Amino acid sequence: MSKRIDVKDLDVYYGDFKAVEGVNMEIEARSITALIGPSGCGKSTFLRTLNRMHEVIPGARVEGQALLDGEDLYGPGVDPVAVRRHIGMVFQRPNPFPTMSIAENVLAGVRLNSKKIAKSDAEALVEESLRGANLWNEVKDRLDRPGSSLSGGQQQRLCIARAIAVKPDVLLMDEPCSALDPISTLAIEDLMHELKSDYTIVIVTHNMQQAARVSDKTAFFNIAGTGKPGKLIEIDDTSTMFSSPRMQATEDYISGRFG
Ligand SMILES: Nc1ncnc2c1ncn2[C@@H]1O[C@H](COP(=O)(O)OP(=O)(O)O)[C@@H](O)[C@H]1O
Ligand SMILES: [Mg+2]
Repeated sequence: MSKRIDVKDLDVYYGDFKAVEGVNMEIEARSITALIGPSGCGKSTFLRTLNRMHEVIPGARVEGQALLDGEDLYGPGVDPVAVRRHIGMVFQRPNPFPTMSIAENVLAGVRLNSKKIAKSDAEALVEESLRGANLWNEVKDRLDRPGSSLSGGQQQRLCIARAIAVKPDVLLMDEPCSALDPISTLAIEDLMHELKSDYTIVIVTHNMQQAARVSDKTAFFNIAGTGKPGKLIEIDDTSTMFSSPRMQATEDYISGRFG
């Protein structure tokens, strides 16, 4: 097993408020890890620490370590922008740039990061990324139309194409299907299975069937009460988590007794 991400004793704060406490988590390369747990237990907060998006909020900070391939993402001198290039993110609501064309949306992250790219290289990258996101066949004849002309499910796949165009190592997804219809949701889930051969994926989902369908490992977070920090209760193979979890709280949550 190759360990791609290794989180050690991570505490996450918003100012004085400790939102997440004491997370230890190892994530293997080319796997899908689902983060589940009741609303407010810190799933999104934790996810955003993995690519240093958390700290863009004033007063937000972390203690502890998050290693990518053995290097602490929070080590001295580490550039958060470079971290975000290696660890891409897809959000709950599809957020293509509405007036930008489909092709320019795919290239948006690349253009932000780098030098000029030759037109032919750009065209090849647009096609490769849209194929990678299972969207190419639907949009290849209208690449110059605005991103906002697509359906919600297509927009989310466009956002995935934009994320993979920069060739990250890891993809973080925060409830990527929660704004989508069931057909689009299945399209994204199928896509995740394909992406897994190239990427390490961490997905937050409130949908336990989705966690069971797509993930290799499931991590259950919980919160003891309002104002208390969220904690990782357990992480295990998804099949084990959904059949015989070790902790009673996990059992209660997955059987729908709370949350
Ligand atoms: N920008 C923020 N500023 C202050 N507190 C926040 C912020 N975002 C989230 N929180 C708090 O952090 C805790 C965890 O929230 P969140 O990570 O969104 O949970 P989840 O994604 O599991 O629903 C909650 O108490 C929430 O109110
Ligand atoms: Mg959330």
